[in-house]
Amino acid sequence: MHAKLICLIGDPVEHSISPIIHNEVFRALNLNYVYLAFRVLPEDLMDAVRGLRALGVVGFNVTIPHKVSVMKYLDELSPDAEVVGSVNTVVNMGGRLVGYNTDYLGVVNTFKNLGIKLEGTSATVLGAGGASRAVIYALILGGVERVFIVNRTLEKAVSLAGEFSIKFPNTSLIPMSLTQENLREAIQKSHIVINTTSVGMYPRTEESLVPPDLLRSDLVVMDVVYNPLETKLLRDAKAVGAKVIDGVNMLVYQAVASFKLWTGIDPPVDMMFRTAYSVLRQLR
Ligand code: ATR
Repeated sequence: MHAKLICLIGDPVEHSISPIIHNEVFRALNLNYVYLAFRVLPEDLMDAVRGLRALGVVGFNVTIPHKVSVMKYLDELSPDAEVVGSVNTVVNMGGRLVGYNTDYLGVVNTFKNLGIKLEGTSATVLGAGGASRAVIYALILGGVERVFIVNRTLEKAVSLAGEFSIKFPNTSLIPMSLTQENLREAIQKSHIVINTTSVGMYPRTEESLVPPDLLRSDLVVMDVVYNPLETKLLRDAKAVGAKVIDGVNMLVYQAVASFKLWTGIDPPVDMMFRTAYSVLRQLR
C-alpha cells in the first residue's frame, strides 16, 4: 500500500521540525503516512492548494506567510479557525478542504498542562500577527481579564483589538505601540508576557523586545520562538526568577491536535516532546 501524504506549505520551511516530529510518530506507531515540507511562494499558493487537492493528500499544515491567505482557497472553516482568523491545519474530507486552527489549542494545552491559572489575570502579548491571534484567543478562552497587545505597527494592534473586542466583549483588549514606556506600563500591570513575534529567532539570537529590567520573578514569560530553545527573552526572564515556557510547548501541542485531526489517533505526546527537544538541542 502506498503511504498517505501529509504536507507542510510555507516560506521558509527549511527550519521547520514538524516533518521530523510527525514522521517519528508514524514510524513508531507503524502508520503508513509520510509528512513532507514544501516551500510555496505567495503567488503560487492557489496552485499549491489545488495541487494538494488533486493529489488527494490526507491534509496539510500551513505556516508563515500563508496562514491567513490560505483561507480563501478552502471549502470550509472550522468555527475556531473562523474566530481566530487563521488556519494552520487543513483536512481533506473526500475532496473538501476544511481549515482548522490548532495553534490556539497548543497554547490552551500548554497552560493547562503546566497548571498555569489564567482566570482573572492580565497579559502582555507582543505582536499582532497570526500567532498573536491564536495566543490571544487561547488567553480569552482561559478567562484572562485584560490583554495588552503591543505591536511595532500600531494599526495592526488596533484592528486586532477592535475585531476581538466585538467577538469577546468581556475581555479588555488594549492596543499599544511598541515603545519602552508602553512596554513598562503593560508589563507592570501583567501576570503573563508572551512573545508572538519572530524577534530572538535564530540567527538573531541576541535580540529581545523586552528590556530585562521590566521582568520580575512573579511573571510567567512565554516565547513562541523555539529555535533557539532558550531565547534571550527567556534567558532574561529566568535570570530574574520568572517562570518560563519555551516555544516547543505550543509547537508540540498544536502538532498533537493536527495529528489527531488527520489520523483519528492520539499521538504519544511524550515522544513528540522528546523528538523536538533532541532535534533542537542538536541543531548547534
Ligand atoms: P505570524 O503568523 O508568525 O504571527 P506575522 O503575521 O507576519 O507572522 O506577524 C509577525 C508579527 O511579528 C507582527 O506583529 C510583526 O510586527 P508588525 O505588525 O509591525 O510587522 C512582529 N515583528 C516581526 N519582526 C519584528 C521586529 N523586528 N520588531 C518588532 N516586531 C516584529
